[in-house]
Amino acid sequence: MISASSVPNTAPVVLITGSAKRLGCAMLKRLHQQGYRVIIHCNHSIDDAERLAGEFNQQRPHSAAVISGDLTDNATLQRLATDTLHCFGRLDVLINNASTFYPTPIGTATFDDWEQLMGSNAKAPFFLSQALAPALKEQNGCIINMVDIHAERPLQEHPIYCMAKSALLMLTKSLARELAPTIRVNGIAPGAILWPSNDIAEADKTMILRQIPLERLGTPDDIADTACFLIQSSYINGQVIAVDGGRSLGATKKA
Ligand SMILES: NC(=O)c1ccc[n+]([C@@H]2O[C@H](COP(=O)([O-])OP(=O)(O)OC[C@H]3O[C@@H](n4cnc5c(N)ncnc54)[C@H](OP(=O)(O)O)[C@@H]3O)[C@@H](O)[C@H]2O)c1
Repeated sequence: MISASSVPNTAPVVLITGSAKRLGCAMLKRLHQQGYRVIIHCNHSIDDAERLAGEFNQQRPHSAAVISGDLTDNATLQRLATDTLHCFGRLDVLINNASTFYPTPIGTATFDDWEQLMGSNAKAPFFLSQALAPALKEQNGCIINMVDIHAERPLQEHPIYCMAKSALLMLTKSLARELAPTIRVNGIAPGAILWPSNDIAEADKTMILRQIPLERLGTPDDIADTACFLIQSSYINGQVIAVDGGRSLGATKKA
């Protein structure tokens, strides 16, 4: 008799960086529902990640694993690529989602701010993609980078963050050429979906909502929908889709 655990598991595998909470977690939940085995990466949110993995594994045994580490650290980055492949022995989808976001007004920015913001938003996606490309190639896999509408339109007082997301935008296009024809690389540029965890003033929220033609925030489900669409769309490569309720059109509503 063949027991369930001895049946080879051929379910595809996704790694989402920074996915213990918020948008990364929403994408994980959706892909797990769709039959993916999921690798949850976290840095500080280890308890949330373990709890999430526990829930997934209860729903479907051996369907979730956790890896952890700071993506700005070079040695950790290399180790995380190895850890990823140890989880399930294959990788079909990499979503570069982890990000640090905070202001660096001119006159105040430090080298450490540069390392944090560039490291999490640009350096890590490059080196993780490079390290995991051979495994993704074996599965004809894909990469999705979580960009930002502010990669193209600077957000006031956030020059380093915007530069980092611009680098990620170019990385998306560049890798779409470099890794073709076996690996597709696309991006999602969210507008205002979830307010930053370091909360912002009510007046700023009102001002942002006035810039959105659909007059509301997006939802984590809107992001999960777009990630699934990009994973399934086998002829889309090198594109970054704005999920922003039309905010990048640029017009502000009259008061
Ligand atoms: N939320 C929005 O409305 C919005 C708007 C525009 C763009 N985006 C983009 O969409 C993606 C997801 O957004 P989000 O708001 O869900 O992200 P988030 O909560 O700001 O960050 C996601 C995770 O990134 C991880 N992270 C940060 N720095 C790290 C580092 N040095 N090493 C390892 N992990 C690190 C953190 O993990 P730990 O908690 O484990 O430390 C954090 O939970 C991001 O790329 C963001 O830039 C989001």
